[in-house]
Amino acid sequence: MKGDPYYDGVTIWRRVQFKRSFEKELCPSFAFSFCDMSEKPFQGKTALVTGSARGIGRAIAEDLAAWGANQVILDVKQEDCDRTAKEIAETYGVKTIGIACNVINSADVDAAAERVKNEFGGLDFLVNNAGILRDNLLLRMKEEEWDVVMDVNLKGPFLVTKAFLSMLMKAKSGGRVVNISSISGLLGQAGQANYASSKSGLIGFTKVVAREYAKKGLLCNAICPGYVRTDLTDALPDAVKEELRKSVPLGRPGEVKDISRVVRFLCSDDAGFITGNVIRVDGGTVIGM
Ligand SMILES: NC(=O)c1ccc[n+]([C@@H]2O[C@H](COP(=O)([O-])OP(=O)(O)OC[C@H]3O[C@@H](n4cnc5c(N)ncnc54)[C@H](O)[C@@H]3O)[C@@H](O)[C@H]2O)c1
Repeated sequence: MKGDPYYDGVTIWRRVQFKRSFEKELCPSFAFSFCDMSEKPFQGKTALVTGSARGIGRAIAEDLAAWGANQVILDVKQEDCDRTAKEIAETYGVKTIGIACNVINSADVDAAAERVKNEFGGLDFLVNNAGILRDNLLLRMKEEEWDVVMDVNLKGPFLVTKAFLSMLMKAKSGGRVVNISSISGLLGQAGQANYASSKSGLIGFTKVVAREYAKKGLLCNAICPGYVRTDLTDALPDAVKEELRKSVPLGRPGEVKDISRVVRFLCSDDAGFITGNVIRVDGGTVIGM
């Protein structure tokens, strides 16, 4: 019935579908003349992914750039940041800068926030991705191995989120924070007392940020990847990799795109009612939890 919001929603949706098929299939050349086909969902937005010079972080930066978001590539070494920033800028045509920053150093993090404010005027998406492993059985785990993993994987997201919070709260269509945790933080893998504790802690942190800033329109979620092929996991012994592969019901390791596509969804308008969530992307490894 006309006037009914559902009716109007459906009608508008049908009209949009018709316009899309008209533009794409029925008359692409005519459509090109009146419709800006280059418009992308994240055009004019800015994203910062920590640890984005390589691996999962780089894939996330690329997927957000492919939808038009300008990029801050943040990692430990300036040359790594610059190389990735240049490749992303050339491939996706977005403004991209590289910032060398150790996420456990608050002076580095505050300087990065100042630079982002000056260069982009704000921040829309923050992805806390930088993370490290220092596996050892608890009996043999050194205090330094505990400290450095907790610092990078948990204190890092605290410092970075805090430094960028005011910019994220001012983001026009609502800021987004995505924290890259791990299924280890859910399961507690042997040999990972430090890593599992840090990733569990990151889930708690995610829920607090989600609650504290929901009224400011800021959404915060965590992703728990399972076994994903990257430099981090390539360094594991072959026998361990084979065991990990066997533990995945889908029968294969994850690829970086399996993770980055979910981050992109969480940053999109389609995820506007999702906050404080923990999403497993693990090929079914933790089915049942
Ligand atoms: N690969 C997996 O199977 C897997 C599974 C679950 C969770 N994760 C998580 O995903 C994230 C990315 O993992 P990856 O496999 O791409 O790792 P990776 O080692 O390939 O990349 C991590 C990046 O973070 C950067 N980094 C490390 N310490 C940093 C610091 N102090 N400051 C700034 N940058 C720093 C590194 O230089 C590197 O570029 C990590 O948080 C990891 O714990 C990975």
